[in-house]
Amino acid sequence: MSNLIVIGTQWGDEGKGKIVDLLSSEADTIVRFQGGHNAGHTLVIGDQVFKLSLLPSGIIRNNKIVVIGNGVVLDPWKLLEEIDQLNARGIKVGSDRLIISENTPLILPFHKDLDLLREQKAGKEKIGTTGRGIGPAYEDKVGRRALRACDLKDISEVKRKLNVIKAHHDILRVGLGAHAIDEEELFNELMKVGNKICGFIKPVWKLLNEQIAKNKNILFEGAQGSMLDVDFGTYPFVTSSSTNAASAALGSGIAHNKINSVLGITKAYTTRVGEGPMPTELFDDIGQYLAEEGNEKGTVTGRDRRCGWFDAPLVRRSCLLNGITSLALTKIDVLDKLEKIKICIGYRVEEEEFADFPVTTSTANRLIPIFEEIDGWNTSTVGLEKIDQMPTKARAYVQRIEELTETTVSIISTGPERNQTILITNPF
Ligand code: GDP
Ligand code: IMO
Ligand code: MG
Repeated sequence: MSNLIVIGTQWGDEGKGKIVDLLSSEADTIVRFQGGHNAGHTLVIGDQVFKLSLLPSGIIRNNKIVVIGNGVVLDPWKLLEEIDQLNARGIKVGSDRLIISENTPLILPFHKDLDLLREQKAGKEKIGTTGRGIGPAYEDKVGRRALRACDLKDISEVKRKLNVIKAHHDILRVGLGAHAIDEEELFNELMKVGNKICGFIKPVWKLLNEQIAKNKNILFEGAQGSMLDVDFGTYPFVTSSSTNAASAALGSGIAHNKINSVLGITKAYTTRVGEGPMPTELFDDIGQYLAEEGNEKGTVTGRDRRCGWFDAPLVRRSCLLNGITSLALTKIDVLDKLEKIKICIGYRVEEEEFADFPVTTSTANRLIPIFEEIDGWNTSTVGLEKIDQMPTKARAYVQRIEELTETTVSIISTGPERNQTILITNPF
């Protein structure tokens, strides 16, 4: 048995999708365990590009089982849309290989409304969410009123819960100037969508434990990144789920001691979408260069990603918080043309130095990064597949990241395609 968690170590978009797609060749089952369709994972396979938000990236390989765990918040309409898109491209997504956990809470249209209304109302205090209803759906989960996937199999339960949810949400909606929920219309829509997805809904915890007993390999695919974690991220500029590795167990129904390894996906520089502190952000030509060269546009909302230098204390902290056993360093090729490259090795606010990312946003907003500068390699690394093909200076950059994060790099990604990868050691 070998079970591996893949998670983002920064603010998301580190290239998790590419690496999960690559590693899923060795997995029997691929599991999403948190987040929802706020995620956007781009996979490039030959001349085909796939953009996934909800389905695990392992779905592209037709012989794999993919699972949506209870830790996810699931928009059933979005799910059907993604399934239809894949089916139309010859990727078969049937109930033989897509399994949705019975206790997965649903994202309903009024969650999205609330997300958008609140963001509008917040003005410059907004979080910059993806507007997909993620936060409000998790609020209903912990508020113990969520409609869950299993409820779709029981008409009376849908009716009863919609009543409870309407009572709660109408107060919020009317307060924000929106109309009350049309319960009948929503009920009818849910019956339609429920009929289509009921066949996928099964006890995931049981399936995964059976697979573990049979020594199958399970790959857990994180969404977002450690700095967007609701507890350990840049709160309140975070998402509403626990993005850290520990939630793979809770969000799918296996025991934490069944996990063998955690692979941290780390971009060779830093990006962030939405509001919140980002100490190494660049507002100059180099920031612009990283954005253009790295094609840093959000998959879900199309927003420009903010770009900056690699932040080593931030990634070191993620390695500790997540028990990361090795790193996959992505997008090193984006740095190819730079004369000089900076790495943040600590922070200061006035005379005070910080070795670690601080907990309060007000302090984080004032951090001045302390940089170390190294020479660029000025040679193309695009598509390299072997470590000894890497320019010496690029190898020195990787080595410095290993030293500063106190974690070894097992994979270097040199382009968006599957084969544009240097596999140093197998993370499974
Ligand atoms: P995720 O959310 O972590 O899965 O990452 P995204 O898919 O949102 O963003 C990563 C982007 O970088 C995607 O467009 C990938 O195709 C692309 N990508 C992944 N790895 C590499 C790499 O090593 N080099 C380059 N140039 N692009 C990459
Ligand atoms: P992947 O899986 C980058 C960010 C949003 C916003 C904050 C809260 O592609 O790495 P939410 O809609 O979750 O309430 O928004 O989190 N965010 C992401 N940023 N990549 C993602 O996913 C993200 N998912 C959410 O931009 O700042
Ligand atoms: Mg993404």
